[in-house]
Amino acid sequence: MLSELKPKNISISSDYAHVCRAVASRIADLVRAKPGAVLGLATGSSPLGVYAELIRMHREEGLDFSRVTSFNLDEYYPMSASSEHSYHAFMEANLFSQINIGRWYVPDGRSRGMQEILLDCRRYEERIADTGGLDLQLLGIGRTGHVGFNEPGSPRDSRTRLVTLHEVTRVDAAPGFGGLDQVPHQAVSMGIATIMDAREIVMMASGAGKAEIVRRALEGEETEQVPATLIRRHANARFYFDTDAARLLSAP
Ligand code: GLP
Repeated sequence: MLSELKPKNISISSDYAHVCRAVASRIADLVRAKPGAVLGLATGSSPLGVYAELIRMHREEGLDFSRVTSFNLDEYYPMSASSEHSYHAFMEANLFSQINIGRWYVPDGRSRGMQEILLDCRRYEERIADTGGLDLQLLGIGRTGHVGFNEPGSPRDSRTRLVTLHEVTRVDAAPGFGGLDQVPHQAVSMGIATIMDAREIVMMASGAGKAEIVRRALEGEETEQVPATLIRRHANARFYFDTDAARLLSAP
């Protein structure tokens, strides 16, 4: 249920569960209309409810993902896919082991030489392009304004690459890792240009803790210093918030 519709393609729902249902419906509509859809997926706590709803639709309504390909935004570096902290493991546990996904890819976080990383990042981009490009990219938003792991200062023309994590991002990740010193300092992330090439972008946020960065993302100056502000330029971006996350947005 959407309690209110604001301009600039913003949907505001009463709570997190409704945000997740709205986002999952959008993804399901795409997959039904285009069974071979290419999805760009995200990690973090925000999409968890979306994935739970997609799993429910798969089980109860037969939503078929067998021809879907997905590419995740990012992975910590260094990080082995089998680590419980990897985004690879997160996606497997919270979505892919519970639906009939066709093919899925997460950037490779294994420790290796720079040349190999550069090559693999290029291959990730090529694979997205060869699959036909992203039909829909799902995004959360970090407190630094990051999307994926594109931290402040990420160039508009950035592509999949090795990045350095902001301290705020590391602090936010620390509880999951059992302490700040356990959180990697780097990650492999799709770039801003990779994300902007998607035919559709769905950004979601919930909770009062995101209210300030949501306000800056939608109403602050457009700048690479707040990468989420760059998403506003996309011709087909839609923003899904709950009332807590949207509470600092100016009235329509
Ligand atoms: C991580 C992810 C981002 C995500 C962000 C917000 O940094 N790399 O893609 O958007 O966390 O996480 P949460 O949804 O838990 O607030």
